[in-house]
Formats: sequence, C-alpha cells, structure tokens
Amino acid sequence: MVLILTREDVISVLNMKECMEVVEQAFLELVNGTADLPLRIGIRPPDGLALYMPAYLRGMKALACKVVTVYKDNPSKYNLPTTIGKVLLQNPDNGDVTCIMDGGYLTAVRTGAVSGVATKYLARSENGMTAGIYGAGVQAKMQLWAMTEARNLSKAFVYDISAEAAEKFSDEMHRKLNIEIIQTTHPDDLLNADIICTASSSATPLFDGRKVKPGTHINGIGSHSPNARELDSEIIRRARFIGDSREACFSEAGDIMIPIREGAITAEHFYGELGEVIKGTKESRMNNEEITIFKSNGLAIQDAATAKLVYQKALEKGIGTKVSI
Ligand SMILES: NC(=O)c1ccc[n+]([C@@H]2O[C@H](COP(=O)([O-])OP(=O)(O)OC[C@H]3O[C@@H](n4cnc5c(N)ncnc54)[C@H](O)[C@@H]3O)[C@@H](O)[C@H]2O)c1
Repeated sequence: MVLILTREDVISVLNMKECMEVVEQAFLELVNGTADLPLRIGIRPPDGLALYMPAYLRGMKALACKVVTVYKDNPSKYNLPTTIGKVLLQNPDNGDVTCIMDGGYLTAVRTGAVSGVATKYLARSENGMTAGIYGAGVQAKMQLWAMTEARNLSKAFVYDISAEAAEKFSDEMHRKLNIEIIQTTHPDDLLNADIICTASSSATPLFDGRKVKPGTHINGIGSHSPNARELDSEIIRRARFIGDSREACFSEAGDIMIPIREGAITAEHFYGELGEVIKGTKESRMNNEEITIFKSNGLAIQDAATAKLVYQKALEKGIGTKVSI
C-alpha cells in the first residue's frame, strides 16, 4: 500500500523547527559521506524548468525522488504557484514506494529550513535583530518563518516589485509569526537589516553590494542557473561565501559563477559547504564585522530528510489515504 499525502496533510504535520533539525542532520550526512546525492537532472520545456531530484540518506534511511517544476508565469497565467513538486518516498530495504506526497509546501519549508540552519551558524546573535526579505512569494514567507526560528527578531522588512504581493506577505506573516513587518517601497530600504534573505524570481541583482553594512548575514535562495543571480559581484567579493554544495554552486549558481567569469573573484573565494560549518571543520562566523553569504541551490537531501519526517509524522497521526497501485 502507498500512502498518499495531499498538500493539506503535509501542512498539518510539518513545522519549521523540526524541519530545520532534520535538514541539519542531512547536511551532516552529506559531509560525513553517508548521503548519495547525484546532481539533479534538468529539462527545459518552453515555458519553464523541470527538475528530477533523487537522494538517499543512509543514517536516516531516507530514499526519495522529487519532481519539481519552476514556471515563472504560472501565477499570472494559470493562478498556480511558480514552483510545483511531488515527492516519491521509497523503503530503502526493498525499494518499494511507501508514500507519494505533495511537494510544494514541503519544498518551501525545507528551503526555509536550510536558510534557518545557515543563519543559526553564520548570523550574529543579538536580541532584537531585524530581517530584510527580498521577494514576497511562497519561498519568501518560509524564509521569514525560518529566520524567526533561528534568531530573536524584533521586526522584518519586505520588498517586492509587486506592492500587492508585499502587502499580502505582511498581513499573512504578521498573523502567523506575530512580529512587526514593514513593507518598503525601495530595495535599498532593506539594507540596514542584520539578516537579508533574497527569495525573488529576479535574474538580476536586487541591490548594490557596496551598500550592505558590515556584520550582515545573507541567505541567497532565489536564482539557480549559471546566468541568473540576485547578488552582485561586489557583495560576493566583500563576503565570506558558503554554499549548500560546492558542486551545485559551480554548476548552477550565477551568484558565484558570474563574478568568477567577470574576474571579480576566483574559485578559491568559495569558502566551504554548510555541512562543513555544521561539523566544525570550517569556521562559522569569525567576528561581528564580516559579511557572510549562504547560497542555497536546493538539494535533494533536504527533500528526502523532510519527506521522511512528514511520512513518520503522518503515520503517527494516522492521516493520509492508503491506496494499492
Ligand atoms: N534554493 C532553493 O532551494 C529554491 C527552492 C524553491 C524555489 N527557489 C527559487 O526561489 C524563487 C522564488 O520562488 P517562489 O516560489 O517564492 O516564487 P513566487 O513567484 O511565489 O515569488 C517570487 C516573488 O519575487 C518577486 N520579484 C521578482 N523580481 C523582484 C525584484 N527585482 N525585487 C523584489 N521582488 C521581486 C515577484 O514579484 C514575486 O512576488 C524562484 O526563483 C525559485 O526558482 C529556490
């Protein structure tokens, strides 16, 4: 029997705190060599991108493959989210499929979760910190949720080219997280924040890297193709750069690939992987002045770990529909 979990089922069992815990474990498995993570396969139909993302985490016994699509015009054309995904979870002992679940919400939470883990290790730690969120879409909301789990935030700023999206974001996230959210009208208005998350669909830099204040931590999650970036060469040059995976950053992340092509930095500028920082083989924040960047491309280990968590919690709560295929 295969357990089918709808988006509502996933929402009812998945929270950011627990997701951050399993995602942190997944990155440790990656650096410890107990994760199988082939580079994702991408196919480009005319209007979007289809990605096939398999992973196996031996420690967690999580074997999964996510099929995810990114279609930028979906919200305006079809009233559908930009990112749509389904996850297939298998029993690693016999290969049988145990669960098929909606992956849209799962993707957003696990993407927030990895930024949350990076922020836990790399951001300054003070009371009453502020966050600045670029983009006000699905991913941006989860970024802010994760920031509130990682740090004590007094307020957050949001900027989106769509004022309507920013307003919706402010209302919804204020209700969910009970923190003050200030909707801004200019991208520079976010640059005083202690933690910045870029979670937009933009393919070009969102702000001038010269204007970022010392001590800022940045999570860059939006762009993931060699010719697209949310961060300019100057902020990459000024910051210590940590990526989710070296391989993914050098094959998918315009944020670091473009500055290398331009000659602003060399490949040695890539400081380390998040798993190395978690394990302690690479430094976390060194002082209160440095600027740190975490670049997330999105790894299948995040999906596998989160899908396993969702499946276990669904079994415990007795939710979902069992079908024989
Ligand atoms: N790193 C990962 O693991 C990961 C996972 C999922 C999605 N993503 C990426 O995250 C991005 C956002 O995805 P989403 O699902 O939230 O999309 P979305 O369409 O729901 O939201 C994107 C928002 O960005 C805004 N935007 C576009 N250009 C902007 C600009 N210059 N300044 C400010 N805001 C701007 C749009 O108006 C929109 O509100 C996409 O590029 C997607 O591919 C990354």
